[in-house]
Amino acid sequence: MRIDVVSLFPEFIAQCAAFGVVGRAGERGLLSLHGWNPRDHAEGNYRRVDDRPFGGGPGMVMLIDPLRACLRAVRAADPRPARVIYMSPQGRPLDQAKVRELAACERFVLLCGRYEGVDERLLQAEVDEELSIGDYVLSGGELAAAVVVDAVARLQDGALNDAESAVQDSFEDGLLDCPHYTRPVEHELGTVPEVLMSGNHARIARWRRMQSLGRTWLRRPDLVDEAALTPADRALLEE
Ligand code: ADE
Repeated sequence: MRIDVVSLFPEFIAQCAAFGVVGRAGERGLLSLHGWNPRDHAEGNYRRVDDRPFGGGPGMVMLIDPLRACLRAVRAADPRPARVIYMSPQGRPLDQAKVRELAACERFVLLCGRYEGVDERLLQAEVDEELSIGDYVLSGGELAAAVVVDAVARLQDGALNDAESAVQDSFEDGLLDCPHYTRPVEHELGTVPEVLMSGNHARIARWRRMQSLGRTWLRRPDLVDEAALTPADRALLEE
């Protein structure tokens, strides 16, 4: 798949995407990531990309024209249609269902704002959806875009090694993950739960499911209501 990121700091995204699973997805040809700088599409000696807000107030607003020209170049670089997603705290909160939806796209564009934001007319004309990564304000959309790139890259077929399979991830079934342990069995910080060494796969699966359900119920009761619980899960919760 292809992701284009429009940002005043495209190098930032390139750095984030150079390591670990995302880097590997790139090397394996599963993801091609392209950074675009609206400044390269700005006119004049100063290549201005922002101006003061009408109505006064602090900060600067990103200009329509450099962003529009940049998006035109992005679209022209590949014939496949691409939806444009603006990263902003006003957007719909990102969740794993949205990540799965994006991971199945052939192509999309992430637009990162800086300063106070982007001229609303550009957003109205060019943006298909807004996404937020949480109820807090970052100084720009780049970190949020890097989050989307990472979450989407690791779901590409072949990005994860077998041992890292995404099937068991938190949220893949709408619940939080169970606890994990490795060697040594005995440690001054505690002992590994006996069931995990029993070799009884059915017992282990049941224990993990109970842990996931319990944690989700304690830490994120809002998710329990939305998760697709089986009758067996409901029985476990009532135990
Ligand atoms: N840009 C600034 N803050 C953001 C947030 N919380 N989510 C997405 N993009 C942002």
